[in-house]
Amino acid sequence: MENIGFIGAGNIAEAIIFGLRQAGGKYNLCVTNRSNNARLADLAERYQIIPTDLTDLLRSSHVILIAVKPKDVLGVLQTLADAGLSGGLEGKLIISVAAGIQVETLEKYLPGVAVVRAMPNTSSAVLHSVTGLVRGHEVDEEHVHMAEEIFSSVGHILWLPESRMNALMALSGSGPAYFYLFTECLVQAGVEMGLREEDAEMLSRETLIGVGKMMAESGKSPGRLRQEVTSPNGTTIEALQVFWAANLKGIVKEAAEACARRGVEMEGEYSG
Ligand SMILES: NC(=O)c1ccc[n+]([C@@H]2O[C@H](COP(=O)([O-])OP(=O)(O)OC[C@H]3O[C@@H](n4cnc5c(N)ncnc54)[C@H](OP(=O)(O)O)[C@@H]3O)[C@@H](O)[C@H]2O)c1
Repeated sequence: MENIGFIGAGNIAEAIIFGLRQAGGKYNLCVTNRSNNARLADLAERYQIIPTDLTDLLRSSHVILIAVKPKDVLGVLQTLADAGLSGGLEGKLIISVAAGIQVETLEKYLPGVAVVRAMPNTSSAVLHSVTGLVRGHEVDEEHVHMAEEIFSSVGHILWLPESRMNALMALSGSGPAYFYLFTECLVQAGVEMGLREEDAEMLSRETLIGVGKMMAESGKSPGRLRQEVTSPNGTTIEALQVFWAANLKGIVKEAAEACARRGVEMEGEYSG
């Protein structure tokens, strides 16, 4: 059984850990964080992770996943670089899921080490992440296989050039928040039209799950599915005309571009 070591035990680490456990639990999951021992104990109880100090984690893990906030990544990379001086990282794969940390930065701190930049989303927890992956220069086919095995077990994967990573983040990395927001707005509208909040939430949520399944399983594009549920003199067209009049398309584009721009800024801030 291979060990995967997590540096960082927050939201995204938990989503991936939960997904890996749901998918079959083939790995030992060793986890370290900065100071929150209660959090590690909680994860150990719920997912049978092994709280592990950093030295042991670096020694025993084949794959090391960095899941700390972008501002903390450079400090972690420096620690790994110091460990690497004694040959500790040879043959291992380092995966960073931090927004805004480029492969170039990972390789600057860890020359000669196989690194992958990954951008999953929190739907890893229900095995429906979409994870963008960028391949470092030292990555071989075995490393590719390891990265694909981990992230395929929590959803879809997409290898892409680093220049497209911020576009991916604007769609799938931050995308869950957009759909949560839209659902919140629909629930609020339902409540204002007299529905009980729990009913409005159930109606909105199940509708979202249903359209997700339709898009995944029908083989039809979202545009075609939309046309099929919109009759010319019906009710749905009235709602869609309100969205169009408010320039929904432009608003979504502006929001996605703002997200991607912040990604570029962060790459500058955290280039090390
Ligand atoms: N959340 C998302 O949807 C999402 C999606 C894709 C990618 N990401 C990326 O995932 C990363 C983590 O995000 P998050 O939302 O999971 O953050 P989070 O919930 O704040 O968790 C951060 C974790 O990092 C630990 N940590 C901080 N400094 C450390 C150090 N020097 N050594 C070891 N552990 C350290 C913290 O430990 P303590 O609690 O002990 O301080 C905590 O467990 C970010 O870089 C983000 O860009 C997040």
